[in-house]
Amino acid sequence: MDWVLLLLLLALCALLLHGLRLFLRADADLTLLWAEWRGRRPEQELTGMVVWVTGASSGIGEELAYQLSKQGASLVLSARRQHELERVKSRCLENGNVKGKDILVLPLDLTDRSSHEVATKTVLQEFGRIDILVNNGGRSQRSLVMDANMDVFKELIELNYLGTVSLTKCVLPHMIERKQGKIVTVNSFAGIVSVPLSSGYCASKHALRGFFHSLRIELVEYPGIVVSNICPGPVQSQVVSNALGEEVTKALGNGGDQSYKMATSRCVRLMLITMANDLTEVWIAEQPFLLVAYLWQYMPTWAWWITSKLGKKRIENFKSGVDADSSYFKFFKKKHD
Ligand SMILES: NC(=O)c1ccc[n+]([C@@H]2O[C@H](COP(=O)([O-])OP(=O)(O)OC[C@H]3O[C@@H](n4cnc5c(N)ncnc54)[C@H](OP(=O)(O)O)[C@@H]3O)[C@@H](O)[C@H]2O)c1
Repeated sequence: MDWVLLLLLLALCALLLHGLRLFLRADADLTLLWAEWRGRRPEQELTGMVVWVTGASSGIGEELAYQLSKQGASLVLSARRQHELERVKSRCLENGNVKGKDILVLPLDLTDRSSHEVATKTVLQEFGRIDILVNNGGRSQRSLVMDANMDVFKELIELNYLGTVSLTKCVLPHMIERKQGKIVTVNSFAGIVSVPLSSGYCASKHALRGFFHSLRIELVEYPGIVVSNICPGPVQSQVVSNALGEEVTKALGNGGDQSYKMATSRCVRLMLITMANDLTEVWIAEQPFLLVAYLWQYMPTWAWWITSKLGKKRIENFKSGVDADSSYFKFFKKKHD
């Protein structure tokens, strides 16, 4: 009998160890990884959809345009810089399964809320419908509370929060009329976990998360409308160089070495799986960030302890002139080119 018990315990330990090894290699929450393994494929679900992507001129939004164009989705590409959007459009036409008529370049400033209604009408006139709105455009922050001008906090709320809410409110009546659509918002780990140097950014992303959780419940009568929050950890993009510093007029400029961050293509692939499977909230990040998100969700006391250690290192990194997220633990540092 004792031997049976011992064998059972050993089997349990082996199983736990295997689970731990898998978790340490995970780069997204377990529901999303399950959907990637067993769920619906973006190749089947997203073809022919009309997708409006904000922040499509660089980083995650740009890569999203490339991957969606390969799926044969019709695209509306929005951001402020028209020439960058034209560049993205050209690459979509070169490498994707789309024709010129399938892509609309629509310059848009998210902070200019009075333009959002007209922009929405333009999209509807062009394509007749909006299947997916991807609220992706936004900026981050690298400055301490004591050093940042009040305008920095205002700008982050105007852009990341109010700009996104405004565009969503313009598109929503159309989705309600059709009783279908997906509203996908690129939030951030900073919408779950608070970090130093990004207090205004964290506030704007926490606000977005609260807003979309409420909206999802308000839309309970419309099961065909899916509200998805995507929370990435560090991903390769221009987000650090575009981050607001102490003044609203000055971006950080030097993003530093980004090669240790998750590849943009991997993050976007996981975003497509989220859309194809109608997941409501996903976390996309490598370790140790993923672990921290789980701790915040399930063990907040431990999370406070570990976040204060990581936060101290984050400020030290920033003050020594490297990217704040460049390295917390050497053994977790892995290059992605
Ligand atoms: N990369 C990360 O590590 C990371 C992690 C978590 C969350 N995110 C989120 O991912 C989203 C995309 O960021 P990214 O990493 O791809 O950074 P990025 O390379 O800097 O791209 C940001 C995009 O937002 C657009 N944008 C900025 N201000 C705008 C405005 N006023 N109106 C309209 N568009 C505006 C930019 O275009 P224009 O300058 O041409 O307007 C650009 O296309 C952001 O919401 C960010 O918070 C990023």
